[in-house]
Amino acid sequence: MTDASSLEARRRSRFFELFESVPRGGPGDPESTGRALAIMANLPVQPRVLDLGCGPGGGSANLARLTGGRVTALDLHAPFVVQQAAAARAAGLAHRLDPVCADMRAAPFAAGVFDLVWSEGALYSIGFRNGLELCARLVRPGGYVAASEVVWTVDSPPDEVRRWWHAEYPDIAPIAEKASAVTGAGLEILDHFTLPRDAWTLHFYEPMKARLGEFRRAWSGDTVGLAVIAELDVEIDMYERWSHVQGYEFFVARRPG
Ligand SMILES: C[S@@+](CC[C@H](N)C(=O)[O-])C[C@H]1O[C@@H](n2cnc3c(N)ncnc32)[C@H](O)[C@@H]1O
Repeated sequence: MTDASSLEARRRSRFFELFESVPRGGPGDPESTGRALAIMANLPVQPRVLDLGCGPGGGSANLARLTGGRVTALDLHAPFVVQQAAAARAAGLAHRLDPVCADMRAAPFAAGVFDLVWSEGALYSIGFRNGLELCARLVRPGGYVAASEVVWTVDSPPDEVRRWWHAEYPDIAPIAEKASAVTGAGLEILDHFTLPRDAWTLHFYEPMKARLGEFRRAWSGDTVGLAVIAELDVEIDMYERWSHVQGYEFFVARRPG
């Protein structure tokens, strides 16, 4: 292993250690989950649901509870999938949660088997449009896709925040452009809405900040760990200063047919 790749491996390991300790991997909140599900007027009573890029915590188990269905919780990072299975067990829902550790690019499912493909803040990892095409393939005709994605909420974001996002995720775009990606993937948008502030703060950054304080003490002297903490400090600061120009848009769509 080269010095650079071993450094990157250590960085990733610290990053995941941190994210294994928080309830979510990105912005989201129970009200928005309920709002998105309420848009799906014809979801079957016991739907087959895929949570793509389920992340840490118990979001997939919660989806099983809310939909009454059977949820496949898929993530590339095995400990996240294990956490979702544990959350389902704790809620008495183990029989309705299938944990799958896999790359969504090689998702091991036949086309059209799901009634709902759900993906909060995760499709970006393979490109939002590619991710939507994957969702459109995996959901049955007439089934639903719910996906959230980071967006600009204004037409001309200031240079400072634009530069920062350009380095982090150059595909950030205005809501209308992301909506075009949804329709371009062959899906019909039923509704979309911007996540409320609490989805970022109360449910994501507040628990994260509490853990950052603990890890800062635990990792004192660990330059790689402290650098990961510093990156997250900057991300939180950017949100606090620029929440009026950036957001997460939740799209609820349907595969025609
Ligand atoms: C920003 S987090 C969102 C997690 C969760 N959906 C949430 O809202 O809390 C993105 C998740 O996608 C997962 N991920 C990234 N690339 C992936 C891939 N190619 N296949 C499967 N999962 C992936 C990451 O491990 C991470 O858990």
